[in-house]
Amino acid sequence: MKIKNICCIGAGYVGGPTMAVIAEKCKDIIINVVDVNEERIKKWNSDHLDELPIYEPGLDEIIKNCRDKNLYFSNLIEEKIAQADMVFISVNTPTKKKGLGAGKASNLKWVEECARQVAKFSNGHTIIVEKSTLPVRTAEVIKSILDEAKNSGKRNDFTSKTFDVLSNPEFLSEGSAINDLVNPDRVLIGGDNPEAIESLAAIYKYWVPEEKILRTNIWSSELAKLTANAFLAQRISSINSISALCEATGADVREVSRAIGSDSRIGTKFLDSGPGFGGSCFKKDILNLVYLADFFGLPEVATFWESVVKLNTWHQNRISQLITKNLFGTLSNKKIIILGFAFKANTNDTRESAAIQICKDLLEEGAYLVIHDPKVSPRQIETDLKKAIFQTNQIEDKSNNIRESNWSFANNLSSIFKDADAVVVLTEWDIYKSINWNDVSNLMRHPAWIFDTRSIIQGIDVKESGLNFWQIGDGLI
Ligand code: NAD
Ligand code: UGA
Repeated sequence: MKIKNICCIGAGYVGGPTMAVIAEKCKDIIINVVDVNEERIKKWNSDHLDELPIYEPGLDEIIKNCRDKNLYFSNLIEEKIAQADMVFISVNTPTKKKGLGAGKASNLKWVEECARQVAKFSNGHTIIVEKSTLPVRTAEVIKSILDEAKNSGKRNDFTSKTFDVLSNPEFLSEGSAINDLVNPDRVLIGGDNPEAIESLAAIYKYWVPEEKILRTNIWSSELAKLTANAFLAQRISSINSISALCEATGADVREVSRAIGSDSRIGTKFLDSGPGFGGSCFKKDILNLVYLADFFGLPEVATFWESVVKLNTWHQNRISQLITKNLFGTLSNKKIIILGFAFKANTNDTRESAAIQICKDLLEEGAYLVIHDPKVSPRQIETDLKKAIFQTNQIEDKSNNIRESNWSFANNLSSIFKDADAVVVLTEWDIYKSINWNDVSNLMRHPAWIFDTRSIIQGIDVKESGLNFWQIGDGLI
C-alpha cells in the first residue's frame, strides 16, 4: 500500500518536527498535523517563524519550505483522519496522577481518545502508527477499540473499515531533533502485518538507508523504546553518583568519564555529569518500566530501575544543599543568579528540568533569584515554580526582606550580577561560556561564589578574578 496522505494527531515536540522532516523528504505525500490545542496550531501557522510553538535548531527553515505545500497544521481532526491512509498518534503520555498505578503508570487517556477518533472517522483501510512512547501491549488496547469499529461496520452492513497497528517509537532528542530525524541511528518498526510494515518502511526509505530500518514484533518495539530511555538515564545517574564520590575523594569526574569512555565497550556518550537529568520522558518512561515490572511480578527488576530515578532526585537536592552550605548555611537576603532554566541547551522545554527543583529549594531557603534563559519565557517559569514573578519596581526597594524567597526574570546578562552573592549555571547554553568573570567579580558582593553544574566554565578564569568556584565532580577545588 503506497501511502499518499498522512494525518498526525499531536502537534508537539515529536509530532511537529517529525512530520516536518517527513514532509521535506517526501514531497509527494500530503501531511496534516492536527491538534486539539488551538493556540499551538495558531503558532505553527504563524508568519513569524520565531513564534513557532517549539524552539528547535533548523526547524524554522523546514517549516518555511514545506508549510502549505505538503505540510498543513490545523484543528480539523475529524476531517483529516477521514482523508488519511496512515495516522500517526503522537500525543502526550504523562504519568498517571491518580487511580490505579498513580505516580508510575502512563496515563493513556489521550491515546485511547485518538483510537476512538480513528475508529469513528477513518475510511477504508487505515494504518495506525504509535509514535508516542507507550507501555508494552498498548497496541492491544488500540486494536480492541478499532475491532469494535470494524465489527459494527459488518453488523450494520455498511462498508467496513479495516486497520493495521504499528509501533514506530521516536528516538529524537530535543535540541538536536532535526539532525536526529534526518540521520537516525535506527528506525524501529514493530508490527504483525509485513505489508503494513513495508508501507511505513517505504516512507523512511526516501532518506534512511535500508540497514538502519529495523523490523521487530510489536511488543519488542514498544519495550525497546522504554528500555533505550532507561539505559540512557541510568548512565547519567551512574556518572552523577560518581561525581559525588569525586568531590569526596579528590578525583575529577571529567577525567573519570574520559578514562572509562575510551573503553569502546562503554563509549563516550552520556557520561557528562550535570544537575540531574530532566526532560519530559526519562523519569516517566523509567517509572512506567517500574510499573510494568511490578505488574508482571518482577519486584527486583522494578527496584533496580527505580533506583535510577531516586538517585536523580537525591542528586538535585545535593546540589541545592551544597549551594546553601557554601553560602554560610542561609540564603536569606542573598541574591543568586540562575543561568539557564531549560532542561538542556537548544530547547525552550522546561519539563522536569533540574532547574525547577533546585530553584524551589533555593527559594525555600529564602534566596532572591534572578533567572535568565535565552529561550524560556518568564510565564513558563512562573508556571513551573508555581510562584508569580516579582515586580521590578519592588526590587528597587531598599528593604531586602521584600526580595526574600522571590524571583525575577532577566532578559539579558548585562548588569544582572550587581550585588549578587552567587551565580549557578544550570543549562549549558553557549552564551554562558564567554562571560567575562573579571567584570562579573567587580559587580558581585564578596565573598561570592560561582557554581557550575554543567562543566562549561573555565575555573581558572573565575578563581583569578577573586571569586570562589565550585564545579560538579571536582574534588580538588
Ligand atoms: P507534547 O505534549 O509536546 O505534544 C502532544 C500534543 O498532543 C499536545 O499538543 C496535545 O494538545 C495533543 N493532543 C493530546 N490529545 C489529543 C487528541 N485527542 N487529539 C488531538 N491532539 C491531542 O508531547 P511530546 O513531547 O511531543 O511527546 C509526545 C509523545 O512522544 C510522548 O509519548 C513522549 O513520551 C514521546 N516522545 C517525546 C520525545 C521528546 O523529545 N519530547 C521524544 C521521543 C518520544
Ligand atoms: C531523550 C533521549 O536522548 C531520546 O533518545 C528520546 O527520544 C527522548 O529522551 C524521549 O523519549 O523523549 P531528551 O530528553 O530530549 O532525549 O534529551 P537528552 O539529550 O537525552 O537529555 C536528557 C537529560 O539528560 C537532560 O537534562 C540532559 O542535560 C541530561 N544529560 C544528558 C546529562 O546530564 N548528561 C549527559 O551526558 C547527557
